[in-house]
Amino acid sequence: MRKLLIIGIGAGNPDFVTIQAIKALNRADVFFIPNKGAEKAELQQLRLEICERFIDDRDYRFVDVPMPKREAAGSDYLGVVRDWHERIEASYREALTRELDEDQCGAFLVWGDPGLYDSTIRIIDALRANGFALEYEVIPGISSIQALTASHRIPLNMIGEPVLITTGRKLAEGMPADIGTAVVMLDGEQTFARLAAEDLDIYWGAYLGAEGETIIAGKLAEVADEIAATRERLRQAHGWIMDTYLLRRPKSG
Ligand SMILES: C[S@@+](CC[C@H](N)C(=O)[O-])C[C@H]1O[C@@H](n2cnc3c(N)ncnc32)[C@H](O)[C@@H]1O
Repeated sequence: MRKLLIIGIGAGNPDFVTIQAIKALNRADVFFIPNKGAEKAELQQLRLEICERFIDDRDYRFVDVPMPKREAAGSDYLGVVRDWHERIEASYREALTRELDEDQCGAFLVWGDPGLYDSTIRIIDALRANGFALEYEVIPGISSIQALTASHRIPLNMIGEPVLITTGRKLAEGMPADIGTAVVMLDGEQTFARLAAEDLDIYWGAYLGAEGETIIAGKLAEVADEIAATRERLRQAHGWIMDTYLLRRPKSG
């Protein structure tokens, strides 16, 4: 039966690649590289570099997988995402059928950890549920959350307290009153700026673990403008940006 490895490669620094991931890299015959367009070319390059650096004397090849574009999300966000995932599933099915022999091992290299805001596992599960015979394993990776807290030298949670992991889209509805710590990902809108009137600390990081890593921390009201300006400057200079931040109520534990 075809075999697939979903390998977390860490969120930005090749040194984040774990020994378990290196062992998995050395089992794969074919690496499937979802093609996300020019904007993410630097990230694709990192995937190739990781293979070059960590794979010993072994033949392997790369296969580009076309990634369908997501429709603009209107009021039906989940419907749009579901439709998009179905089209990705079709693209994966086509690539796996064409490029992976029955006795071969394929791999997807997933940014950060495959369990965190990434749909590769969901899409492979859907493929299998729809009759595509495939065995698969998931190899965990260092996520951007771990990179963020390590760079700021802070614990993720306060003593005995929960943590909310959320998106910019959800944070726009407000920081829930019973939440002391929230980690915000996928925020293209600098949603933190809308909460500047609240008593919150922010720990922000861009390109974490990678060249150009930039971090800023402080009282949200005092550093929100600086973060917004820095983010915009970096986005323009690199042509793309990936940033994550942690918000914490100062007396939350
Ligand atoms: C599609 S999610 C993927 C998350 C990934 N699976 C992980 O474990 O970190 C992409 C979001 O992760 C965050 N992110 C990923 N890598 C990052 C990095 N090196 N620096 C800052 N944020 C990062 C950003 O919030 C970005 O919008």
